[in-house]
Amino acid sequence: MREGSPHAPVRLTDYQPPAYLLDTVDLHFQLDPGRTRVRSQLALRPNPAAEEAGAPLVLHGRELELLRLELDGEALTRATYSVDAERLIIPEVPDRPFTLTVETATRPEANTALEGLYTSGGKLCTQCEPEGFRRITYFPDRPDVLACYTVTLEAEREEYPVLLANGNRVAAGEGEEGRHWVRWEDPFPKPSYLFALVAGDLTCCTDRFTTASGREVDLHLYTEAHNADRADHALTSLKQAMRWDEETYGREYDLDLYQIVAVDDFNMGAMENKGLNLFNSQFVLARPDTATDADYANIQAVVGHEYFHNWTGNRITCRDWFQLSLKEGLTVFREQQFSAAMGSEAVARIDSVDRLRGAQFPEDAGPTAHPVRPSEYVEINNFYTPTVYEKGAEVVRMLHNALGPEGFRAGCDRYFERFDGRAVTVEDFITALEEANDRDLRQFRRWYTQAGTPQLEVRSSFDAEAGTFDLCVRQHTPATPDQPHKEPVPIPLAMGLVGADGADLPLQLEGESEAVHGTRVLLLHYEEERFRFTGLTEEPIPSLLRGFSAPVEVDYPYRDAELAHLAGHDGDLFNRWEAGQRLARTHLLAQAEAVGSGGEAVLPDPLRAAFTRLLEAPPADAALAARALMLPDEGQLAEYMETIDPDALHAAREAARTGLARELRDGWWALRDRFRDTGPYRFEPEAVGQRALANTALAYLMAEPDEAARAACMEQFRQADNMTDQLAALRALAAADVPERPEALDAFYERWQDDPLVVDKWLAIQAASPLPGGVERVQALMDHPAFSLTNPNKVRAVIGAFAMRNPAQFHRPDGAGYRLLADVVLELDGRNPQIAARLVKPLTRWRRFVPEREAAMHAELERLRERAGSPDVGEMVDRALGDEGEA
Ligand code: PHE
Ligand code: ZN
Repeated sequence: MREGSPHAPVRLTDYQPPAYLLDTVDLHFQLDPGRTRVRSQLALRPNPAAEEAGAPLVLHGRELELLRLELDGEALTRATYSVDAERLIIPEVPDRPFTLTVETATRPEANTALEGLYTSGGKLCTQCEPEGFRRITYFPDRPDVLACYTVTLEAEREEYPVLLANGNRVAAGEGEEGRHWVRWEDPFPKPSYLFALVAGDLTCCTDRFTTASGREVDLHLYTEAHNADRADHALTSLKQAMRWDEETYGREYDLDLYQIVAVDDFNMGAMENKGLNLFNSQFVLARPDTATDADYANIQAVVGHEYFHNWTGNRITCRDWFQLSLKEGLTVFREQQFSAAMGSEAVARIDSVDRLRGAQFPEDAGPTAHPVRPSEYVEINNFYTPTVYEKGAEVVRMLHNALGPEGFRAGCDRYFERFDGRAVTVEDFITALEEANDRDLRQFRRWYTQAGTPQLEVRSSFDAEAGTFDLCVRQHTPATPDQPHKEPVPIPLAMGLVGADGADLPLQLEGESEAVHGTRVLLLHYEEERFRFTGLTEEPIPSLLRGFSAPVEVDYPYRDAELAHLAGHDGDLFNRWEAGQRLARTHLLAQAEAVGSGGEAVLPDPLRAAFTRLLEAPPADAALAARALMLPDEGQLAEYMETIDPDALHAAREAARTGLARELRDGWWALRDRFRDTGPYRFEPEAVGQRALANTALAYLMAEPDEAARAACMEQFRQADNMTDQLAALRALAAADVPERPEALDAFYERWQDDPLVVDKWLAIQAASPLPGGVERVQALMDHPAFSLTNPNKVRAVIGAFAMRNPAQFHRPDGAGYRLLADVVLELDGRNPQIAARLVKPLTRWRRFVPEREAAMHAELERLRERAGSPDVGEMVDRALGDEGEA
């Protein structure tokens, strides 16, 4: 960060324990959407572990009206404290336990940032992670200050019959003038970021769970009345997650009540507040005719994720926000294990790797690269990133694989026992794993401190006479901002050697007395390492990084025939898919290169051959087959280009896609016919896989649509009894220039206009359509009555889909796509800076593009730097511009 920047960075090395500890918090809310009064009583005492005694008491606060301030019941005079836009400081407080009473007012209706207390569709609700609580009251708003909360909510009964907060409901009563109140007590000490309240007219869908030790837990899912028939799947998912965590980690739920509330206006996916999760409606509400298989899977994963936080995040929390991955990386890993257990393991792994490569690898290779545990930030909201979440999960997965399931479980048990009820660091977690396993993970810690994706260059040679196969493995991590020099990291390279018959060959390293069968893990520690496999009677094909055993990029000079062999036979299902993707990528990039130098793109022969084989004998797991039949998307392919030429890439991929459509038409029809009918909708792995496969076939048929394809697509659109099939048809129509397109889009809107979540799909499909005129289409959508700039889901559906999932239109040569994005960022900057800053992301990759695009993106970043006021956007733009930011 540049010197003299208006927003000073926070540094990990500056951490100091809190000067005062908090035992209890008593909050009293007089709820009103226009102006809510909050009375807070804090039982404070000096922290014996503080660096210095007698330090001032520092409370955070933002956009608050201070009404009253008392210490031990005595009003504080104006001279005894100071208050500015960020803090309230009391220089002198007693050197013994004392009580501070603070009364403030805040304006929920005027709160467009959706942090703190705000309104959403007639409800009042809160979002406090990471620093939203300071918008509710003056408070030591840092995760290492834990306290037990008692919360009394008072509101008008008519409008807010339901009043919820964390923990257990302990009392309720009538107030004056149609008001009522409810009191909640949370027996578990927690940091302020886990506080939550909800007030509104809500319907409660209930269920029950009996824990392994026989305790009964009430499950309450609150929605608006008209959505009450969309709660089943989330409740089922919650029970599955609770059972799974008991069976896998031995962790039970600890309160008698688990509450989930669906909220339409929400900055993120969901929030793990203790005993009162708040969910973006998108990740909780589902009915077969309104939600797709992908929605069902996401809901299962997110419900699981928030539930798993109860132990990894809530019972044990973060000392400071630099430790964010302590809870998020670990919880995403647990979520991924859960998803794998609920369906196909290989498909779950493919999807998680796809997310990692689609978002985290690009981040790690660009100007916003940062370690899993960052060392400084300006705005912590900018660090809820794929690196902290997805790469953080990969790092935990490597630890899991290095220690084995039992060793990892033993390490987690130790972590839970030792740190329960405390706010700790990543270091504490690793130490617990080390101690329980008697292992030294010193070098492993680099994964948390070093940014960048390690590149693994693998070369081989076979000596037929000696029967030896040599692998030479070199690792290199490219420089990232602030980290020019990289150290080698430990890399578990899971691998096998595949023989001509497709079976794994025995693996015997020189000097070993016995061979290993199947997969083995080579643990790399150094920049360069060599391995000699012996006793081989044929030249093997190495299957490298099986199961994606480390978040690295593997470079190996595979020949087409070798990849085809692996794609057909590799014993590791992930690598079977990976081989096909690698084959496609190599040839699509070659075609893009050809287009870039003035040539014409065609369907490459090896791709035609690979797809022909797949269509003749698709893998038994239909979901896996569907993944194998999908070409890598343009965003991922772009990462492999020296200089990204979006037009050449689009042309190359389109040529392949339409070529496959045209030349294998009979195969697509056969595939669709075979898997089309899955009966009444059920969210079960087999049916999900079959729908994916049939709809992949439909998408190819619509890539070069003849009359029969169009008719079939329209028929599916009209007849489908589930959103998965209906949306697949609509997506195919929206991507094609056919007369049915406007008809279907209108009919869909007509049918679903009163359903915000379905309207989001309608918006996103149009914003992501690769048809020409994308910028104008997006502008029209923003003018449509269904759009709203104040609802994050709508912004994501239109602007997010356009900028992140429509490369062909977003990167339009005249820069109109970039301009549109920057305009939206500026409009949002003053209202919801968190969402605004997230939208800057696509522009941060400007240096990777061909010169005109690079210049056009750069110009928009400059414009943002000049005009944006929030630290959120400011930090993203400064990082994007890099050294230029210092000018
Ligand atoms: N902690 C939430 C999760 O990952 C994400 C979140 C962050 C939600 C910040 C809101 C605000 O589960
Ligand atoms: Zn999380």
